[in-house]
Amino acid sequence: MSHVVKLPAVEDTRDFGRRLAGLLRAGDLVLLTGPLGAGKTALTQGIGAGLGVLGDITSPTFVIARVHRPDPARGGRVALVHADAYRLGDATDPRAEIDDLDLDASVDDSVTVVEWGEGLVEQLVDAHLRVRIDRRDDDTRIVELDPVGGDWARRLADLG
Ligand SMILES: Nc1ncnc2c1ncn2[C@@H]1O[C@H](COP(=O)(O)OP(=O)(O)OP(=O)(O)O)[C@@H](O)[C@H]1O
Ligand SMILES: [Mg+2]
Repeated sequence: MSHVVKLPAVEDTRDFGRRLAGLLRAGDLVLLTGPLGAGKTALTQGIGAGLGVLGDITSPTFVIARVHRPDPARGGRVALVHADAYRLGDATDPRAEIDDLDLDASVDDSVTVVEWGEGLVEQLVDAHLRVRIDRRDDDTRIVELDPVGGDWARRLADLG
């Protein structure tokens, strides 16, 4: 069963990310989907705030993956790896480019959040959380969470 939430403003999206972070632990993969400008990076900013990691979470222009280390002063315990595969859309072999990022080296010890990674990163771990964000005509966002394998369904139930 998927979990659907309405997010009227960008602050709501960040708050939701913060709540979602409460469910996350090392080894998790979160796959963010949805069109350009949907709010994937905004949600990741909330996740980063919830995890207590260092560094601004932005839309990378050249960097495809960035590691945000935990800030113990803010209760951070796990790193966030934020990847954005959008620019790989034109690559001849996007999968090879993803391999070059070495996400599998960090995935076990980090929370990995990937934008535009559908079809490219699912094999990194045997379960993941799919998060789809859509933009409505009135500019509100609808986020739909789909547990894919593992114990995600049970964990989502904790989100209330
Ligand atoms: N409810 C909302 N949730 C998220 N963003 C919103 C919302 N309402 C308005 N916005 C605006 O929409 C934009 C979302 O941008 P963001 O970079 O997070 O999208 P994205 O999905 O990461 O895009 P891209 O595919 O280009 O990476 C921001 O400018 C934000 O202020
Ligand atoms: Mg983005």
